[in-house]
Amino acid sequence: MSDAAFQRRAASIEDDVDVLYSQEAIAQRVRELGAEIAAAHPGGDLVLLSVLKGSFIFAADLARAIPLPLRIDFLGLSSYGGKTESSGVVKITSDLTRPIEGAHVVIVEDIIDTGLTMAYLLDNLATRHPASVEICALLEKPSRAQIRVPIQHKGFVIPDHFVVGYGLDFDERYRNLPFVGILKPSAQRAAGNGS
Ligand code: PRP
Repeated sequence: MSDAAFQRRAASIEDDVDVLYSQEAIAQRVRELGAEIAAAHPGGDLVLLSVLKGSFIFAADLARAIPLPLRIDFLGLSSYGGKTESSGVVKITSDLTRPIEGAHVVIVEDIIDTGLTMAYLLDNLATRHPASVEICALLEKPSRAQIRVPIQHKGFVIPDHFVVGYGLDFDERYRNLPFVGILKPSAQRAAGNGS
């Protein structure tokens, strides 16, 4: 594909979305969150637990913003499928690679919306006997909360819009946008029509 064709393709993806947090705004907030987590855990030896798929980009950036010894592991969870509403039924799609017994765990999430996924995850992790568990969420949408979970490290509180980018998807698309934006209803309708 030529450079011009590539630019047109990239612009058409970005046209589906109104920017909410720019790449620069996110980078600044991630640096602050990294410093905050490091200050809260002076002893280090953390496990960053990245909840897939949505948090993969956030976790990669956050890990590099924490100047401490840590390890990173991944847990695949899904509750939305191809929909914009949570099904409320959380599925583990892939499990941790190592036990977390006795570990200080920081869960890294892209968004807490209804809170159902995180409530499920907290219950699940408790059975594995970590020393402590904290939550770091890039986005919180409190207007839709069905269960309130304690978020120790929070990036941004957002209004009730369907957001995509920086790891967040609609029907598996838009995760690669470098910013977080509000998906235009026209783009949702087009995807619903199979386009
Ligand atoms: C998203 C997001 C959270 C969850 C939050 O995951 O990554 O895990 O929804 O929603 P809740 O607070 O209403 O439960 P999704 O199920 O879309 O899977 P994904 O991470 O693979 O995109």
